[in-house]
Amino acid sequence: MKSRIFLIGFMGSGKTTLGKRLARRMGYTFADMDQEIEDTSGMTIPGIFREHGEEVFRKWERDILLELCKREKLIIATGGGAPCHSDLMDLMTACGLTVYLELPPEILKDRLLHARVERPLIKGKNEEELLDYIQITLEKREVYYRRAELIVEGVSPSLDALVAALKSF
Ligand code: S3P
Repeated sequence: MKSRIFLIGFMGSGKTTLGKRLARRMGYTFADMDQEIEDTSGMTIPGIFREHGEEVFRKWERDILLELCKREKLIIATGGGAPCHSDLMDLMTACGLTVYLELPPEILKDRLLHARVERPLIKGKNEEELLDYIQITLEKREVYYRRAELIVEGVSPSLDALVAALKSF
């Protein structure tokens, strides 16, 4: 089994929820990239976007990833945009196993409409604008997401099947 497993996928794809369950099952530690960035910077994600802008956030994402790659037995929920910026997909592939949680845009939209977490990239969008944004952004991002070594049906993934698949790497 690889020592670091990176869950990648669009906002709302369930990386954090699945990551926590997987970590519990496998005896790994769970880490959430956004949470690590917030803890390190002492700022919230919306605050970072507001005060410093997306470019700085993307740089901090990379810094955190390099730190996470030094730790062992980790399940990591990545930020939805992380694999699509700079060389992060290469870094993740080099230091662990990448797993893409694949969900259709309609389902992502429904989940994001009802989410409590504030996400700066989609803040203030109505249902129609949100679906448009997801469709357009997902199409661009899938080029990166699809480089994952494992692609998982993300709507209701089976924990047992996933653990078995992870063991084969
Ligand atoms: C982002 C996704 C967010 C967070 C930031 C940017 C993105 O994480 O990193 O708001 O670019 O898709 P989640 O995927 O956990 O929502």
